[in-house]
Amino acid sequence: MNVSILGTGYVGLTTGACLAFLGHNVTCVDADHEKIAVLERGGVPFYEPHLAELLADAHPNLCFTSEYAEAIPPAQVIFIAVGTPPGKDGAPDLRYLEAAAHGIGKHLTGEFAVVVNKSTVPIGSGNWVGSLVRDKACEKAKGRFAVASNPEFLREGTALHDSLYPDRVVIGADEEQTAEVLYTLYRPILDQTFQAPPYLPRPEELGAVPLISTDLASAELIKYAANAFLALKISYINEVGQLSEKVGADIAQVAKGIGLDARIGTRFLQAGIGWGGSCFGKDTAALIATASEYGLEMPIVKAAREINRRQRDRVVEKLLSELKILKGRTIGLLGLAFKPHTDDLREAPALDIARKLIERGARVKAHDPVAMDRFRKESESNGRLAEVFCCETPEDVAREADALVLVTEWPQYRELDWEPLAQIMHTAIVLDGRHALDRTRLTRAGFRYVGIAC
Ligand SMILES: NC(=O)c1ccc[n+]([C@@H]2O[C@H](COP(=O)([O-])OP(=O)(O)OC[C@H]3O[C@@H](n4cnc5c(N)ncnc54)[C@H](O)[C@@H]3O)[C@@H](O)[C@H]2O)c1
Repeated sequence: MNVSILGTGYVGLTTGACLAFLGHNVTCVDADHEKIAVLERGGVPFYEPHLAELLADAHPNLCFTSEYAEAIPPAQVIFIAVGTPPGKDGAPDLRYLEAAAHGIGKHLTGEFAVVVNKSTVPIGSGNWVGSLVRDKACEKAKGRFAVASNPEFLREGTALHDSLYPDRVVIGADEEQTAEVLYTLYRPILDQTFQAPPYLPRPEELGAVPLISTDLASAELIKYAANAFLALKISYINEVGQLSEKVGADIAQVAKGIGLDARIGTRFLQAGIGWGGSCFGKDTAALIATASEYGLEMPIVKAAREINRRQRDRVVEKLLSELKILKGRTIGLLGLAFKPHTDDLREAPALDIARKLIERGARVKAHDPVAMDRFRKESESNGRLAEVFCCETPEDVAREADALVLVTEWPQYRELDWEPLAQIMHTAIVLDGRHALDRTRLTRAGFRYVGIAC
């Protein structure tokens, strides 16, 4: 099928690469000319494991442009995958979505096309996008398109795996004919009939992928409700973690004991600094904003957000309790990205923690295996974050530091040679913000090990 994808960010480019790999003709569009230039040269504008390889394999079926006039007329399916960043009062800022919908409307030719919201959008956006497209469409094209919702559940760092081998595909459409276009598009994924790329092997246990075919509003709500639930799970274990610390329990064992109940599951039950990233904060805020339009409060979701906010304060409190004074101390952060295997810094806990420490007079050094360049660029004109001293290696972070904080659980930090690090620090304290380090090993290496919930 001929597919156009608007937005070549984490979601749009992943979707484009996967669909082109499956044999569809895909045009990826971005308003950012620089991004398109990078892609045309065979580069990848952000870090995502195996994306460069998949783009290379899918190359014959892929093209890149900034021109809607080129991308829209031949497309049978048009995905909107532009950003929906947080706006005022918790509601997302929909200006990119609006521009994309207008751009589609202007260039529809009258051949039937399905416009698919893949961006995470407030409930009711399907209808809204439909009206925006219609407003700009020529008379011939006005009735010749339909809108569907196909929320995305990929996780950065495993985005390609999640897209080729999803837990489920959700399609929301108000007419069966519209949904059928998307069943056809996704058939190789639903039936798992494609040949898996060698660097992304199919999980052995995977059978057919469940399809949830529903109406527009339900598909839109599924996305928000799923993200809010994952956020709740993390905040729940962090709340239990606070009690665990008081009563002297081992939160890792508690989480395992809870999670092995099949009704609960072990994932998203790691106590620590809490969630970051571009989705959970924004989507929980959007869910609360939508609910308030209907006179509903969403107290559980609000509490999850508040607990998450407090977890970042706890890092500062823990450091204060260890060092007594933060003014003039040097704190080293291991990890800047909001999670391992990505360079995405949006809402990353490290940024918030760095800011709080600098405000208290500490000097902050930081390292990240892949996000350093992005951090340098984005922090340049970002208030206090410009004061963070970027280090090339974890050793540089540790040298003369009063404490290290593991903020992002990159696997390479687990494997560090800790003994020499302890020797070059001013005081060998490590705050394990992710419960990822081996307390016994660190203690043997000469560190005072401090956990977040222990
Ligand atoms: N990143 C994730 O892990 C993830 C997961 C699931 C869902 N989502 C949702 O998917 C959407 C996209 O997220 P993302 O992380 O890929 O965003 P992103 O910021 O990485 O990418 C968005 C891209 O859209 C481009 N763009 C903006 N306006 C445009 C326009 N009018 N036409 C063409 N391109 C335009 C931007 O230049 C940018 O490259 C958001 O709604 C997000 O909530 C994200």
